[in-house]
Amino acid sequence: MRGKTRFFGGGTSGYGSGAAELLALKDIDLDINAGEFVAIMGPSGSGKSTAMNILGCLDTPTAGQYLFKGAHVESLSRDQRARLRRRYLGFVFQGFNLLARTSAQENVELPLLYRGDSASVRRTAAAKALTSVGLGGWEHHTPSELSGGQQQRVAIARAIVTEPAVVLADEPTGNLDTERSHEIMALLLGLNTRQGITVLMVTHKPDMAVYARRMVHFVDGRIAKDAANPHPITHAPAGLTAEMST
Ligand SMILES: Nc1ncnc2c1ncn2[C@@H]1O[C@H](COP(=O)(O)OP(=O)(O)OP(=O)(O)O)[C@@H](O)[C@H]1O
Ligand SMILES: [Mg+2]
Repeated sequence: MRGKTRFFGGGTSGYGSGAAELLALKDIDLDINAGEFVAIMGPSGSGKSTAMNILGCLDTPTAGQYLFKGAHVESLSRDQRARLRRRYLGFVFQGFNLLARTSAQENVELPLLYRGDSASVRRTAAAKALTSVGLGGWEHHTPSELSGGQQQRVAIARAIVTEPAVVLADEPTGNLDTERSHEIMALLLGLNTRQGITVLMVTHKPDMAVYARRMVHFVDGRIAKDAANPHPITHAPAGLTAEMST
């Protein structure tokens, strides 16, 4: 992602209509530069997921503008947004969202299948992505044969197999214990620092947010605080990467 992703102009997003309309986001003015690592925090119901859905081009704001690499996303058709997502964005979810009874390899290949890549291109790219998350040798395991942390690593491999400019992660460590959470954060940090991928992550946990270099706090659908993290974690805690090979 060159240039800026801007989400501004009193960006507002509502659910429902008329008097029943609920404004999940109000007066949002947010500029994100390529290469940033942003943690989005805030209480339950404060609009974090709504904002992520707009940033991820899954939804459009009911009022205001969202520019992604200069494109006015709010005026794109559903298909154009889908193409933009396939080309530039990778998603990681709290619940991993892997296909059951489907191997890690096939799960990771899925975005490439949608893109029309050949079987051999898919196989090579998926193997490379799985190796990069420490899961070389686990290609043929299905989600039920993998731990939660391993399943989330498969989901990260799936998110990066298309070489996206931006990875959006909504509570990626929400279902994991502390140690596994730090492993996932080390991976996301590596994507950002080593591969230059912009990372936008929602988290409730301050221990995980400290990996980001910028923290945006939502309260009641507004940005209450947007500041640089004075002490970001810049490398994985010792021993973590070595342990990650299984
Ligand atoms: N599909 C929907 N229809 C109607 N209201 C919705 C919908 N999705 C979210 N909302 C409402 O919008 C507001 C913001 O919700 P959102 O999911 O963005 O919060 P959040 O900050 O992600 O919360 P959490 O930490 O619990 O995930 C809430 O009041 C929620 O009830
Ligand atoms: Mg949410």
